[in-house]
Amino acid sequence: PYPWFKTMREQNPVYFDQTIGSWVVFRYADVKQVMTDYEHFSSAPPDRGDGMNMFANSMLMTDPPRHRQLRSLVNLAFTPRMIEQLHERIDGLVNGLLDDMLAQSEPDFIRDFATPLPMTVIAEMLGVPSEDQDKFKYWTEQIITSSNNPNMAEIVPIYQEFGGYLYSMIEQRRTEPRADLISDLLKAQIDGESLSDMDLIGFCALLLVAGNETTTNLLGNAVRVFSEQPAIYAELRANPSLIPNVLDETLRYYSPVKAMPRHTHADQQIGDVTIPAGQRIMAVIGSANRDESQFPNADSFDLHRKGNQHIAFGHGIHYCLGAPLARLEGKLALEALIKRVETIAIKPDAQLEPIPTPITFGVKNLPVVITTNE
Ligand code: HEM
Repeated sequence: PYPWFKTMREQNPVYFDQTIGSWVVFRYADVKQVMTDYEHFSSAPPDRGDGMNMFANSMLMTDPPRHRQLRSLVNLAFTPRMIEQLHERIDGLVNGLLDDMLAQSEPDFIRDFATPLPMTVIAEMLGVPSEDQDKFKYWTEQIITSSNNPNMAEIVPIYQEFGGYLYSMIEQRRTEPRADLISDLLKAQIDGESLSDMDLIGFCALLLVAGNETTTNLLGNAVRVFSEQPAIYAELRANPSLIPNVLDETLRYYSPVKAMPRHTHADQQIGDVTIPAGQRIMAVIGSANRDESQFPNADSFDLHRKGNQHIAFGHGIHYCLGAPLARLEGKLALEALIKRVETIAIKPDAQLEPIPTPITFGVKNLPVVITTNE
């Protein structure tokens, strides 16, 4: 999409896209403004949907004051300090998954590593037992792709099964609290009231969906960079202190979340364009992060980039809750990878399948050829 984004930034930076019935903004300054100015660009859609959207009441799709109340309930669990306590467990998972991947004759980095890692981490935080994690993975994948599936008969049962499963977990924790996020949320109150079952289900669903494919894409997109530019991987192996730079530059260069929606409740001006009330605006993060006016040589991957103010995790009050977790997973994954893997490249004849949503940027499969020093 990047050449098209560039053309749009130059020629048509605030644009109404007939095919998706939505406004689209492409420039860094505009994208940042739309994502940050919650008073004028709301995260709450005017039409709350048909009940199929489990996230409609979640923090992602609400404005203050409700947004702040919901977010404060889980903020503590996601601070860098709390997340650091998962260090050892995540490191163990990373190395176990690498063992399995390296033993494969036809390894696929997405299937064998980048998908199971975040899935297992968030499922454990919520308290999903390991024997149910395959089911979980199936449901979350289906829900992520369901936005492109016009066949309601296929989608409805999945939402029902998933909602039913979450509900039974919630009921179980009600009688027998444990040391997990669901038990904590059951104790939480807003204005003296406990969360409703729908709120609780929405919370779990949001954490699962927001945290999985995004992190999978970050890891997969980093390996794409290594395959396209082997010198970067070699430099990283020689100098592991560059890992944070690689993560941030991958977040900028191949932003895992391509775009996020906002909504106007009154007429709004962006540049010299007036957007009427009741419209949807897609803020194209993937384009903002390639804007030359913000990032010199925006189209090159620069391991030593200074002042990388990318907005891959958003900006302002909705800034990604899971950023510290995604960063820790990314860091431990890359540390283990450079220690154990000498070279990694996409298999020459591989047919990569892009993820077909307007929201995320990544691939569904990444067959790789690996050389190790083991
Ligand atoms: C919000 C990206 C990982 C949970 C966001 C937003 C972005 C984003 C762009 C802002 C949305 C908006 O302004 O409308 C990413 C990327 C990730 C990642 C690129 C990985 C590389 C995670 C993880 C979790 C998570 C691991 C949780 C386990 C959330 C939640 C929100 C959010 C709950 C909503 C915050 C709010 O509305 O206040 N993320 N995310 N994310 N993210 Fe992430």
